[in-house]
Amino acid sequence: MGEIFEVRSFDAAGRIGELTVPRAGLTVETPALLPVVNPHIGTIDPADLASEFGVEMLITNSYILNRSDDLRDRVLSEGVHTLLDFPGVIMTDSGSFQLAEYGDIEVTTEEILQFQRDIGSDIGTPVDIPTPPDVSRAQANEELQTTQERLKTAERVGQKMDSEMLITAPVQGSTQLDLREQAARHAYQTKLDVYPVGGVVPLLNAYRYADMVDVVAAAKRGLGVDAPVHLFGAGHPMMLALAVALGCDVFDSAAYAIYARDDRYLTVRGTEHLDDLAYFPCSCSICTNHTPDEIRRCDDETREELLARHNLHVTFAELRRVKQAIRRGNLLELVDARARGHPKLLDGYRTLFDHSEQLERSDPVSKDAVFHVSSECVRRPEVMRHHSRLERLSVDGDVLLSEGGVNEAFDETWRVVPPFGPFPRSLSETYPLTVEVPERMSRKSYEMAADGIRALVETNPDTSFTLAHREWPKSALTRLPNAVAVTELS
Ligand code: GUN
Ligand code: ZN
Repeated sequence: MGEIFEVRSFDAAGRIGELTVPRAGLTVETPALLPVVNPHIGTIDPADLASEFGVEMLITNSYILNRSDDLRDRVLSEGVHTLLDFPGVIMTDSGSFQLAEYGDIEVTTEEILQFQRDIGSDIGTPVDIPTPPDVSRAQANEELQTTQERLKTAERVGQKMDSEMLITAPVQGSTQLDLREQAARHAYQTKLDVYPVGGVVPLLNAYRYADMVDVVAAAKRGLGVDAPVHLFGAGHPMMLALAVALGCDVFDSAAYAIYARDDRYLTVRGTEHLDDLAYFPCSCSICTNHTPDEIRRCDDETREELLARHNLHVTFAELRRVKQAIRRGNLLELVDARARGHPKLLDGYRTLFDHSEQLERSDPVSKDAVFHVSSECVRRPEVMRHHSRLERLSVDGDVLLSEGGVNEAFDETWRVVPPFGPFPRSLSETYPLTVEVPERMSRKSYEMAADGIRALVETNPDTSFTLAHREWPKSALTRLPNAVAVTELS
């Protein structure tokens, strides 16, 4: 494929991009969230999705359309855009998810791709096998072989059918991380266009965000930066920032409708049950025009629709917040804030920093943003980058590393800022050392700063160093090399 995806700006591994969809003649800004539209039970009219929510792209299921006696002929004759009354980009899934949920489905990749082409889908999907988490290596491997054969089939069908429809190349491999990476590398080498990370719905439903992070990070290692990445089945607003920070570009949300059916109200800090709400913590049109009591008194259908509308509003608001954060360079601050909403999300956030080196590769060297420091931030890409820089900084003579001012008795006075560690004053105006840090930091921040001093000492064994600190904890001071003299500032 030609250049269908261009990245405009990065923050960590997150990016603002443009996905060009030739068959629709449209370019969609990413990260994009595709509402899932069930052709049988539309809670919200797709025409409203465009006008009220600004939706540019949605996803529907070609398998359901194909199997439906009422809809098959209609969608074949009038096309899926007319059937759904939606002017934007329509992506179609293949029935793989039904395969995972209900067992056997009776359709081949060739048939369903041709059907997707025939109904006018803009982005089609082959019948991949959504292997669930935690299966044996043998099963993961065997099912991945099948998925890979289907991608090859999709590639062949795609070339033969001479259509501008884009085709996805789902990445499977269960929770076997090396298989995920290998699957991604294989998918990337096909002539297919969009790369969904699949089989993660059970992880998301169980709030296993740490595993989700490892799985996505593994897939990302096998894909080039120019690969648009879809996270299949992810649409809860509380995890969007985290998934975007990992480098996912496209999401689909069935959550807005499924949760509404059970009276569940989405927020960026988790899910609330309508019965537990005395107030609406949201300023969307639904929440400003109704009280929780009023919605509780509505009939089932109205209540479901109102909740679905709120759920979608809150999801798109979060998506805009995520995009704004990328532009502003403070996406990781947003992820940090979201991680406080749920312990499992905090685990996911901590796991994100197990991949700090991977994030560092795309993270901008300079940002016009303030760096907020929480205990997790000691492993942010910016801190890692400063630490590797310390191994290259050389300095001679008698050097004071100080949290206070310059002392003329020394040849040089460097600054020390936890969690970064030491740096020459000339770097003070360079990101991220422009950081504003709280006066009281976590113990881990001081320990990281001490490790930074150790790295500097190891690079400059003939230089004499003195640290002038303010109330560093013992656990940090004991990490310093013996050769460093220590004084405490008052
Ligand atoms: N929807 C949610 N997960 C998946 C998946 O793994 N594959 C496909 N095709 N659709 C999905
Ligand atoms: Zn609302």
